[in-house]
Amino acid sequence: MLILSIETSCDETAVAIIEANEKTPTSFKTLASVVSSQVELHAEWGGVVPNLAAREHLKNILPVLERTIKKAKIKLADIDLIAVTAGPGLIPALLLGVNSAKALAYFYQKPLVGVHHVAGHILSAFSDNEFNFRVKKSDFPLLTLTVSGGHTQLIYTDQPFNYKIIGETQDDAAGEAFDKVAKILGLGYPGGPIISKLADKYIKENNIDLVELDTQPNDTSVKKFFPRPMINKPNFDFSFSGLKTAVLYYCQQNNLTSNKATQSLPERTSLSEVQGKNEGFYKAHKSTPSKTEVSDEEIRQMNIAQVAFEFQEAVVDVLITKTIRALKKYPSQTVSLSGGVAANTRLRSKLENAVKQQNLQFKVPPLSLTGDNATMIAVAGYYQYLYHKQNNTLNIPQNNWQTLDAQADLKLSPQKINIENY
Ligand code: KG4
Ligand code: ZN
Repeated sequence: MLILSIETSCDETAVAIIEANEKTPTSFKTLASVVSSQVELHAEWGGVVPNLAAREHLKNILPVLERTIKKAKIKLADIDLIAVTAGPGLIPALLLGVNSAKALAYFYQKPLVGVHHVAGHILSAFSDNEFNFRVKKSDFPLLTLTVSGGHTQLIYTDQPFNYKIIGETQDDAAGEAFDKVAKILGLGYPGGPIISKLADKYIKENNIDLVELDTQPNDTSVKKFFPRPMINKPNFDFSFSGLKTAVLYYCQQNNLTSNKATQSLPERTSLSEVQGKNEGFYKAHKSTPSKTEVSDEEIRQMNIAQVAFEFQEAVVDVLITKTIRALKKYPSQTVSLSGGVAANTRLRSKLENAVKQQNLQFKVPPLSLTGDNATMIAVAGYYQYLYHKQNNTLNIPQNNWQTLDAQADLKLSPQKINIENY
């Protein structure tokens, strides 16, 4: 079965063609996947501008579609199913993808399914490095940490695909926090990859022993450089806005903010959440050169790198502590990580170690499938199709081009289906 998929929920115009081999267990082969990123365009504005994103999708969708078909060496008429991200996302951006998919479904008279963007991210973790997917019943129950620019959710899937959101962010998404902290430090957009690189450099230059750091007893009463919001709360929700503010105050106190970031930021009120002016600098790592050997600007850059590292440690700490704690209430066979922030090397390796210590299977997408792409939407589209098929709802009006709607706040609903017992 050939599946064509379209993803335009944010700032990536993506099209993929995959082949589903419906033997058991079902496997998927990616024939072609093209992603056209608008990152450079939005970088100028420090974030995604919905109407600009829609304009770019309009410009890009046909060239991206053409390239994908050419790469896959197929004809559009050979496609068996069309899948498109129906939500959640930016509505002007989603509309471009949904309307393009509807036009194709109408013209070629193919079944069309709307896919939940996060269902795609969850399935991205089932890809190997050659972009072949295999989903086995024995991989479930599955606990997924989805962390991106728009989402931070812990999702428990006891059986395919009975999704249950067991925790989510109460304010900023993890990726959004990375982006905002990068903005405070004047590092550019998107902030996640920049902070991550800077933190890696800091780890290397200061010979930080991560194994030692991670094997220290996790005494949550010991004050950390930056706060770990909600880490001790018994629920599985997250909050990153207080952490971002703590970083902001710390940077303001230590002259580390970019001018742009401070212009519209609130008055400094309290420093109670942070460790205090300059207290953390140079303390932890004796190898840091003294002030006489380096210029003030070099010191400032080192301090910025330390903020990047300490902020990343705080985010990763909260995400992993809550994920591992959730396993007690939601025993799982597999833990997976997905979404744009899953590209973060520290988060990937620390979570992998923590999961393996529990003797569980760990799944994470290859780096190129952590961000938004259409391959994951095609795989999720296949299971959406199967759900309708098993419930005899494939031909009801909701599933064809006439009534499929883009929905900015589409909810992830449980869709139990039978997959073979492998
Ligand atoms: O999944 P994605 O491409 O788009 C959304 O659905 O939001 O995620 C984008 C987010 C951005 O906030 C970006 O800064 C973050 O993922 N990100 C990272 C890294 N790479 C991308 N965050 C932390 N570390 C990274 N290496
Ligand atoms: Zn995404």
